[in-house]
Amino acid sequence: MKIIGTGSALPKKVVTNDMISEFLDTSDAWIFPRTGIRSRHVISDEKLEDLGAEAAEKAIENSGLVKSDIDYFICSNVVSEYITPGLSCVISEKLGLTCPCIDVNCACPGFIYAMDIAENRYLAGKARNILIVCAEEPTRMSSWEDRSTCVLFGDGAGAAVFSEGNNLKGIRLNSNPAPDKIYQYRKLVDTPFIKKEEQDVPLQMKGRDVFKFAVTASNRDILALLEENNLTKNDVSYYMIHQANARIIDAIRDYLEEPESKFPTNISDHGNSSSASCPILLDECNRKGMFKSGDILVFSAFGAGLLSAAAIIEW
Ligand code: UT7
Repeated sequence: MKIIGTGSALPKKVVTNDMISEFLDTSDAWIFPRTGIRSRHVISDEKLEDLGAEAAEKAIENSGLVKSDIDYFICSNVVSEYITPGLSCVISEKLGLTCPCIDVNCACPGFIYAMDIAENRYLAGKARNILIVCAEEPTRMSSWEDRSTCVLFGDGAGAAVFSEGNNLKGIRLNSNPAPDKIYQYRKLVDTPFIKKEEQDVPLQMKGRDVFKFAVTASNRDILALLEENNLTKNDVSYYMIHQANARIIDAIRDYLEEPESKFPTNISDHGNSSSASCPILLDECNRKGMFKSGDILVFSAFGAGLLSAAAIIEW
């Protein structure tokens, strides 16, 4: 497949580190050096499905297609106000799409997992123009009394339209199941038969373990994927790394021994927006006119699961 359009949408409320330090024992002096985050967009009166639909509208407009051309729609989402139906159905209704749609919940690498489904659907001859929307509101998952998690996240939606082409050069998916490293529980409805303890627990994360996994998995995925596709680091124009933490991106860059100019970032004013992070970055770079035809983009993302994934796309 080939990416022919991108879009993104962000909540209007911007929360700076200084604003958080007004109600929590934290500071810009702690947050910025450890994460590279200065501010993040946070949902206030917006609905996540509206942000997802707005990102999709922009991506379809950017692609030159019209909505009726889309014949498959994948939505990547971890949490929304809906338990059912899937967010893809809710966004489809807003867009007026009637093509098949599915949700994937693969946390931060969700954009790449969605690409893999899209590519397989395309290769099977079952779809030609596929919309991927990653819509996430992780600021509704962590406790705003827990300084170790809430400062890390931001909300938003990113979208891309994929169509016919031979530009998706390779994808690598990886799973290291360890649900205790990042998780959130929610209590379900009681029944007369339930005999087990259930509780609502906001997002919990073993930050240092996740940091190590992210750096190790990303380097391994990138190098293995380049080798599988007979490419070298010299062929890569840009590394589109999941924007979780500037120090993770720096560590990956140091390991790869690649120049800073190949690593576009937007972490400083977005924070970690889970699976939306890669397509939001992609859209921002695209709209700045950074990419030229033939550029090789290497995507790499990692997160809850623990899952990681990488993809090579020729622009
Ligand atoms: O998509 C993947 C998502 N996950 C990630 O990207 C997370 C990866 N991990 C990380 O980025 C880092 O582990 C963090 C930024 C989350 C934390 O940095 P750290 O250097 O690993 O800090 P720590 O958790 O070991 O905490 C060190 C200290 C603790 O205080 P004590 O126990 O040493 O007194 C924490 O209580 O820093 C304290 N601390 C804070 N202090 C001020 C933790 N969060 C904060 C905060 N403000 N926001």
